[in-house]
This record gives sequence, structure tokens and C-alpha cells, in this order.
Amino acid sequence: MAPRSSLTIVLAAGEGTRMRSSIPKVLHPVAGQSLLAHVLGAAPNGAGAALAVVVGPGQEAVEQEAKRLRPEAATFVQRERLGTAHAVLAARDAIRRGASDLLVVFGDTPLISAATLKRLREPLNKGADLAVLAFRAADPSGYGRLLVQGNRLISIREQAEATAEERAINLCNAGAMAFDGRTAMAVIEKIRNANSKGEYYLSDAVAIVRDLGLEAIVVEANEDEVRGINNKAQLAEAEQVMQARLRKAALDAGVTMIAPDTVYLAADTKFGDDVTIEPYVVIGPGVSISDGTVIHSFSHIVQSSIGKNASVGPFARMRPGTTLGDGAKIGNFVETKAAILEAGAKVNHLSYVGDAHVGAKANIGAGTITCNYDGFGKHKTEIGAGAFIGTNSSLVAPVKIGNGAYIGSGSVISRDVPDDASALERNEQTIREGGARRIRERKTRGNKPKDA
Ligand code: UD1
Ligand code: CA
Repeated sequence: MAPRSSLTIVLAAGEGTRMRSSIPKVLHPVAGQSLLAHVLGAAPNGAGAALAVVVGPGQEAVEQEAKRLRPEAATFVQRERLGTAHAVLAARDAIRRGASDLLVVFGDTPLISAATLKRLREPLNKGADLAVLAFRAADPSGYGRLLVQGNRLISIREQAEATAEERAINLCNAGAMAFDGRTAMAVIEKIRNANSKGEYYLSDAVAIVRDLGLEAIVVEANEDEVRGINNKAQLAEAEQVMQARLRKAALDAGVTMIAPDTVYLAADTKFGDDVTIEPYVVIGPGVSISDGTVIHSFSHIVQSSIGKNASVGPFARMRPGTTLGDGAKIGNFVETKAAILEAGAKVNHLSYVGDAHVGAKANIGAGTITCNYDGFGKHKTEIGAGAFIGTNSSLVAPVKIGNGAYIGSGSVISRDVPDDASALERNEQTIREGGARRIRERKTRGNKPKDA
């Protein structure tokens, strides 16, 4: 027997209309990744697995997202949005290549797992012609309902066509279907748009398979794996499910969280051993946190890499491109962006460090600002190893502070400071004996003291 091959078609056409958004639906994020990215991550991969993604006209952004994640994917444009079966046929050329199985997955079901899609394809090995993924919905409204007789799947009724009695059915179509590659095209081409919406419903494939005397099978999944996203409320529900999964995975991997429900993770967050995350931390995409590091409360971290035994926050904001070395420290009300802080560097309070390189063990005093933007372009600040930047200093980029240099508090540094030099830019302090008394007298002349 020839080895089985599969074609997965991911349907991703359509605007964000029901999401009330100008962004295409499948580009909305769950745990910092697009819905499409989640689905593509679950689609079969490797030898014998082909992938096609159907996008709407002018949806280059969706196409790019597909190619970014799965460069081998073929993309097809569905010129008009005439329904899910019509969308599948947009990828006709890919179907014609004749895989053993055709798997159709919707781009708006981001919680689906690779294991479930594998399970969905299994009945095909045992002679089924169509396997439909289904679930028991807490609230079935909006989903296609499965009409079954005993164990036999008869057809799927879409919400718009369903009678009141059928609407009470809670066994719903999850959207994912696996077709035997030999009959798939013939079945899908038979689907007509004779319904209230004038759409070609892929769900009608079930009745057609039955009419042809072929076998359609139900494979059940948990609702939390197959929730479809048509609006922002469902997007928020999916986020909750995903966060619960990510928190559990982090705890299982040994991350300490005393209030996991208050910690937001991204699907790609990476942890070393013995990482602690305090309550109310938000971690966006592209973050890795190494062994022994503590992220204190109320910190917000995106696209940053954090070394071992480092300390971040409370109230720190790490923006994209921050690299924190081993044992480095970012304290409260510190913002970083495109900044490399080498091992043991410290920025303990109230600072902005952007477009900067900070050498090992440098100490950046409270209130230090790298003035990286002059209204036209961004410029770089380099701070040498072991340098000491006094509090409330402004470093006007481009500027270099040498290794071991010492900057006096309150300086505005706009010229390079050599290694081991000290620099101070501050007016001389003046003291007038009795000056305070004279000011008070002047200010209160002719007025009665307030509390008299
Ligand atoms: C669909 C199913 C429904 C199922 C539910 C599961 C149909 C007719 N209905 O309903 O039985 O219970 O999903 O979540 O199949 N798409 C296109 N082109 C189109 C239409 C849709 O690419 O012309 C894509 C969308 O981007 C989306 C997916 O197909 O990712 C499903 O379409 P959607 O409009 O969300 O279908 P539902 O009404 O949710
Ligand atoms: Ca949907």
C-alpha cells in the first residue's frame, strides 16, 4: 500500500465584520499569536503533508502570516465569499494533486490541537469517507447542529435553516472535517447554495456523502478545543481557555506563580528552571526567561530575552529588543527598548534605556534617561562596563560613556566620555546666608500670617 498523504486546507477568507474590526478575523491574536498561527501550528506537518491556505481578495497580510509560519504553504484567493464549501474549492488545484486524505480546518478555531486533528483522520484508515469533528456546546447558537439517528450521522443543519427543535440540539459541528481523498472533490462539488443565505455550506457534505451511500462518522472533541471565533466575546473566551492551558504548562514545567490567574503568558513564552513570576505580570510574544530569574509584580514584557538570576520589576516595562544579561536588574518604573544590558548591569529605578548598550556591572542611577530621539531619528547610547551614571542624568545620543567612567548626578552628557574619566555637567551651587529668611519677609510683607 502506498504511504498515506494528506492535504490540509485552512479556510481563512473574510473580513473582521462580525468582529467589528478592520483587521481580518484570522489575524486577531490569542496569547500573542494570530488565530491563523495557532491553527497552522496544529495542521499536519512533515513528509506527505501538504498545506493550502484560502484567503480573501486583497488579504496580503493574511497570506504573509501564512507564509511566515509555514513557508511551504500554497495560498489561494477566494474571490467572493460564498461560503465554506466554495472556499474549499478555491484550493481546487491543490485537491487535484490527489492526497489520500483531505483535511479542512477553519482559521477561526485556534484552540484545536494536532492530536485532535490526527484523531479526526483515523476513521479514514478504517474505511470512512468523511469524519466530522463535533462537540457538545454549552450554548450551541450559531453552530451547525448534527442530526444523528442512533450512531449514524445523517446531516448537519446550519443555524439559519434549523427548526426550533433542531436548535435545541447541542451536538455541534466544530468545522474540521476529514475527507477520503478519492471522493472529496466529487462530494464538495455537489454542494449547492439553496439555503436562506445563498451560501455553499461545507456542512452539507454530510448529507451528500449519505446520499452517495458512503459513510460519515462523528469524532467528538471537547468544546474548549474547538470553540469558533465569530465575535470579540468569543475571542475573549478563547483567550481565557488558552491562558489556562499556558499557565498550567508553565506550572508543570516548574515555574513558580502564587497567583497564576493574574499572569498573562504568550503561546511562545520560554522558561528556564526555577523562574518565579509574581502576581499581575503580562508577558507578550517573543519572551524567554532563564533559570532563577524573578519577574516582580506589574511588569510588562514583550520580545525580550532575560538571562539567569536576573530581576525585573516591580512595575518594569521591557519593550521589544531588550536583552538582559545574567544577574542583571531592572527595577521599578524602568522602561527599556532595543537595549542590551550585560551581566550584572543595574537600572534600579525610574529610567528609560532605549537604543542602548550597557556594559557588564554598569550602574545606572535613578532617573537616568537615554535621549535617543531628536525628533528625526533614533540614536545609540553606549555605556561601558562598570560605568557609574549618577542619578537624574540625561545621555544625549549618539554618545559613548567609557568603561569605568563616572557621571555626576544631574548631568546632561552630549559628548563622549573616555574610559575611567569622570564627567559633570552642572551649574555651580550658590549659597546665600539668611536668604531664606529674606524671601519669607518679602513674601509676607503687609500680610498677616495665615494662621493668626
Ligand atoms: C461554521 C460552520 C458551522 C460550524 C462552525 C464551527 C458552515 C456553513 N458552517 O459556521 O457548521 O458549527 O463553523 O465554528 O460551514 N470562510 C471562508 N470563506 C467563506 C466562508 C468562510 O474562508 O466563504 C472561512 C472563515 O474565514 C472562517 C471559516 O471559514 O475561518 C468558517 O466560517 P464562518 O463564517 O466563521 O462560519 P460559522 O458561521 O462560524
Ligand atoms: Ca466561525
